[in-house]
Amino acid sequence: MQLAGKTALITGAARGIGRAFAEAYIAEGARVAIADIDDVRAATTAEELGDHAIAVHMDVTDPTSIDGAVAATIEQLGHIDILINNAALFTAAPIVEIERAEYQRLFDINVSGTLFTLQAVARHMIERGQGGKIINMASQAGRRGEPLVAVYCATKAAVISLTQSAGLDLIKNGINVNAISPGVVDGEHWDGVDAFFAKHENKAPGQKKKEVGAAVPYGRMGTAQDLTGMAVFLASDAADYIVAQTYNVDGGQWMS
Ligand SMILES: NC(=O)c1ccc[n+]([C@@H]2O[C@H](COP(=O)([O-])OP(=O)(O)OC[C@H]3O[C@@H](n4cnc5c(N)ncnc54)[C@H](O)[C@@H]3O)[C@@H](O)[C@H]2O)c1
Repeated sequence: MQLAGKTALITGAARGIGRAFAEAYIAEGARVAIADIDDVRAATTAEELGDHAIAVHMDVTDPTSIDGAVAATIEQLGHIDILINNAALFTAAPIVEIERAEYQRLFDINVSGTLFTLQAVARHMIERGQGGKIINMASQAGRRGEPLVAVYCATKAAVISLTQSAGLDLIKNGINVNAISPGVVDGEHWDGVDAFFAKHENKAPGQKKKEVGAAVPYGRMGTAQDLTGMAVFLASDAADYIVAQTYNVDGGQWMS
């Protein structure tokens, strides 16, 4: 039980990787707030995960909603030891077709959402005086550009940069800020990515997934469960001396 007695707020935890993190944290003894814009799915997820999970409404693009979700979590769980900034949106378009509104939407969720949720939770952690752990979800997309994915790549590069700055600033308060950089993780998110490439690269449905899986040195796409070991480790006392880092958990993809 590496997280016994700890409490965590996980954004975008109604499904996918965030949900897997919530399950893993509960298995390690934590209580978890499933914070998501999708209230119905968040409620179902919390119910399925049992007594150690609560659902809270959260839109990471809305300052009032961020404050409300943080307050609701503190009210129901007592305090927040761990934050995972996991909520994000993926869209893709050729450079000449990128629309300003879409650009703004992605930066609002992926970058502003990460920064201002981190800020709200860090304020609580500083006031409480017992430190904490903050984990941001980056991506291999933040480490290099991709022809059809310019805006998402830029948002994830910003997440890596924010992790460095926040990590360096907040460690004096005993708050460790680090990030996880996955490669390609199968799930509903990638169903959408696959459909996009089917349209833009004339591929059969499922073809893009096959190709990206085959290109991973490990030999397949990742699963959400492949990431939980790093998420538990970075939230545990064993990671106390780790500051401002972004860890690839990608089956070797970034190295290849
Ligand atoms: N799946 C991958 O291949 C992959 C690869 C690299 C990085 N990532 C990152 O991992 C994280 C999780 O990815 P996933 O595949 O589980 O995504 P997902 O799309 O399955 O889940 C995202 C969740 O965020 C929620 N959400 C969306 N907008 C929100 C908002 N404004 N406020 C609150 N919640 C909101 C959604 O309702 C959903 O539950 C993301 O940060 C993603 O960028 C994923």
